[in-house]
Amino acid sequence: MQDLLREMHQWMHDYMRSFYTDDEEVQKGIVLKEEHTGYVTSISKELAGHLGLSLEDRQLAEIIGLFHDVGRFRQFSVYRTFNDAKSEDHAALGLQVLEELPFLKEMPKASADIVRFAILWHNKKEIQGAKSRRQLFFAKLIRDADKLDIYRVLRPFLTAPTDEGISRDFVTKFRNGEQVDYTKIRTQEDRKLVRLMWVYDINFAWTLKKVAERGYVADIIKELPKDKDVEEGVRRLLAYVEKKCAQPDVAEL
Ligand SMILES: [Fe+2]
Repeated sequence: MQDLLREMHQWMHDYMRSFYTDDEEVQKGIVLKEEHTGYVTSISKELAGHLGLSLEDRQLAEIIGLFHDVGRFRQFSVYRTFNDAKSEDHAALGLQVLEELPFLKEMPKASADIVRFAILWHNKKEIQGAKSRRQLFFAKLIRDADKLDIYRVLRPFLTAPTDEGISRDFVTKFRNGEQVDYTKIRTQEDRKLVRLMWVYDINFAWTLKKVAERGYVADIIKELPKDKDVEEGVRRLLAYVEKKCAQPDVAEL
């Protein structure tokens, strides 16, 4: 696997750079995704190490991290947007790109299927239809690694004050710790709440501790509108974070 992994890294490196352009706006988007790929790959490796996975499984986590957003590059070059709703699902697009390459065929079938499954479900609201514990486990791992780095990317946008107001039904759901419908996001303030509520969807205490330690949660909370229901939601959320962080992580393989 070590040689294959090296080839994958080399290919991904060259592939991402093949999208470099003189168009400043496009270049910014490509570099953003290149950096995100690098961070998510290392976070995946680190999390896999923390969970005590075997060398093979740590490498599997690394491969998924490396390729999880491979579809972003074709998406941007074809549609000039990273918005899935305005183009197509970048996870499914990523699988198309991967199927054109020899890598998945060179892996054991069960491992290749785990890569496919984890990538396809890395960006969905929830994971559905896993055919094995391993598929589900690696999907959870990449979702955590991805979220941790997206908090880094989004921090400047989620902490800027706005006067756009917040949707009442979002606040009610936040207070009650219930899921919200992403498609109903209306304002930047709604977006802050939605990202904050990602906390409830983080799978491992390791990830949540990093999210908290890096101040991502506190920074968003600071910028939320002053409101009794928002404060109630924040209390619930912080209590949840404390409880979850105190639980030991187990690799359910
Ligand atoms: Fe993604």
